[in-house]
Amino acid sequence: MGRLQDKVAIITGAGQGIGLAYAERFLAEGAKVVVAEINEDRATHAMEHLAGKGDAIFQATDISNPESGEACVAAAVERFGTVDILVNNAALYYDIDNFDTSYEYLQKVTAVNQHGAWLMGRAAAPVMAKHHYGRIINQSSGAAYAYSFPSFGDEFAGLGNFSYSITKWGVVGLTKFMAAQLGVWGITVNCIAPGVTMTEATKKIVPDMFIQGMTAATAMKSTLEPEDLAGACVFFASDEAKFCTGQTLVIDGGLAMPG
Ligand SMILES: NC(=O)c1ccc[n+]([C@@H]2O[C@H](COP(=O)([O-])OP(=O)(O)OC[C@H]3O[C@@H](n4cnc5c(N)ncnc54)[C@H](O)[C@@H]3O)[C@@H](O)[C@H]2O)c1
Repeated sequence: MGRLQDKVAIITGAGQGIGLAYAERFLAEGAKVVVAEINEDRATHAMEHLAGKGDAIFQATDISNPESGEACVAAAVERFGTVDILVNNAALYYDIDNFDTSYEYLQKVTAVNQHGAWLMGRAAAPVMAKHHYGRIINQSSGAAYAYSFPSFGDEFAGLGNFSYSITKWGVVGLTKFMAAQLGVWGITVNCIAPGVTMTEATKKIVPDMFIQGMTAATAMKSTLEPEDLAGACVFFASDEAKFCTGQTLVIDGGLAMPG
């Protein structure tokens, strides 16, 4: 018996990186998994990787599109009968442009990273409430807590839009409000804020110098692998976390210690 035996889990952005590691671990724990991913190539590779490891389906999903999120939940219900767990892992991270400081781009990143989690929660919560059981796990980031910026040159370069960091901070707040409303329906909502995790996205987006600097500032002097986060996600998704809700767990080797 796995710790998530026969539970039905939607994991967004499970086409690669941390979401894929969550999907693999959830299958090992006996869950049935919906890989909800916008990028079909990534999803194809993910499904090949997960083949033979348990009961998983791919549902093409854009979490920033309300109809697409609803369709994802409907597909889970049709195939597996219900939804017990929603992991809001998808975000613009590999595909983010940190140099686009326009308002339009801030709106786009917000639509995915923050509103996408809300839209998926809105779609899944009624199904969970119907059987008075649910687990929602949102994915924030250590970027929500890191607010020191290097200064480049003497000229004021314009206000940044902080799109990634601010949406990840937003996810922490969203977690609290969702938890507060949904608890009475037997639904818990928690959040994981990972530190530097060595996915393809991190290798592409974060300059080596930053990785080294941030790692040196951690207590454990080490970066993480996606698998290092999976145990916490299983815990929040399991019955053991029955009375744990509205919480954000920072897993970063000891950099941000919000207390
Ligand atoms: N890797 C890290 O160091 C790190 C640290 C802190 C937080 N995080 C967060 O963890 C999560 C996963 O990180 P990762 O490194 O695996 O990133 P990633 O960019 O490799 O994975 C994100 C996945 O989400 C998918 N996605 C993007 N937009 C989508 C949409 N609109 N609908 C559905 N799917 C969509 C992407 O195609 C991709 O497969 C992200 O939320 C990221 O912000 C990562």
